[in-house]
Amino acid sequence: MTDTPAIRFERVSKAFGALKVLDDVSFDITRGTAFCLLGRSGTGKSVMLKHIIGLLKPDHGRIFIDGAEITELDSHELTRLRLRIGFLFQNAALFDSISVGENVAFTMRRNTKHSDSMIREIAAQKLAAVGLDGQYDKMPSALSGGMRKRAGLARALALDPSILLVDEPSAGLDPITSREIDSLLMGLKSNQGVTLVVVTHNIPSARRIGDELAMLHEGKIVARGSVDEFDRSDDKMVKLFMQSEGSG
Ligand SMILES: Nc1ncnc2c1ncn2[C@@H]1O[C@H](COP(=O)(O)OP(=O)(O)O)[C@@H](O)[C@H]1O
Ligand SMILES: [Mg+2]
Repeated sequence: MTDTPAIRFERVSKAFGALKVLDDVSFDITRGTAFCLLGRSGTGKSVMLKHIIGLLKPDHGRIFIDGAEITELDSHELTRLRLRIGFLFQNAALFDSISVGENVAFTMRRNTKHSDSMIREIAAQKLAAVGLDGQYDKMPSALSGGMRKRAGLARALALDPSILLVDEPSAGLDPITSREIDSLLMGLKSNQGVTLVVVTHNIPSARRIGDELAMLHEGKIVARGSVDEFDRSDDKMVKLFMQSEGSG
């Protein structure tokens, strides 16, 4: 079973009205690796992540998570599968009316039978693991952008997911904070074997994190490979990205 990919897209297409966003897309992501998805704004990267957790359904094609076809699951099975997948949204998507710690505790309260004290303890541990030790009772509005991102990460990790989806982790962060977030992500992969799918515009970040890079353009994965392979690629879009080091 170890060679079952963590994620498989098989001829997936998705359109919104006349807008074709994914056009017959197929790829595998190996367990325990980091897959960086690149592409211009509006090409469908977030749409792709949303398909992985079943927030969107393909018009055609099939999606497998750890070998299970998610399009075939009933709502109960889909809920259970989602618990194995963490999602760090681009804006961190914290609930602003509850404390940082309770944001992390939220999914545990809903989905586990742990006692309140156990949940608080785990949430505090998750916060400490992302460098937010002692921030449990702060309100999200009191956090900086980088701290919000860390809190979002702690929340995504609350149930120890085997797959972590991260949408533009560097967006809005300074390069140093961005590097710290990258280190946290790489630690999850190397220490806990978490499969990472990271959408990014930030090439230095993709170089650090990515075992494999993929370029989404006009509905297709137009290139896929290691950082070295991307550096040597003749693809026009890949060249534009790889030569734009400073941006994002
Ligand atoms: N739920 C939706 N309904 C209609 N159009 C959508 C929806 N979600 C995304 N889109 C459109 O699909 C395209 C890809 O969006 P998105 O995946 O967010 O791009 P990005 O690559 O920047 O993450 C955009 O044109 C966007 O407007
Ligand atoms: Mg997006």
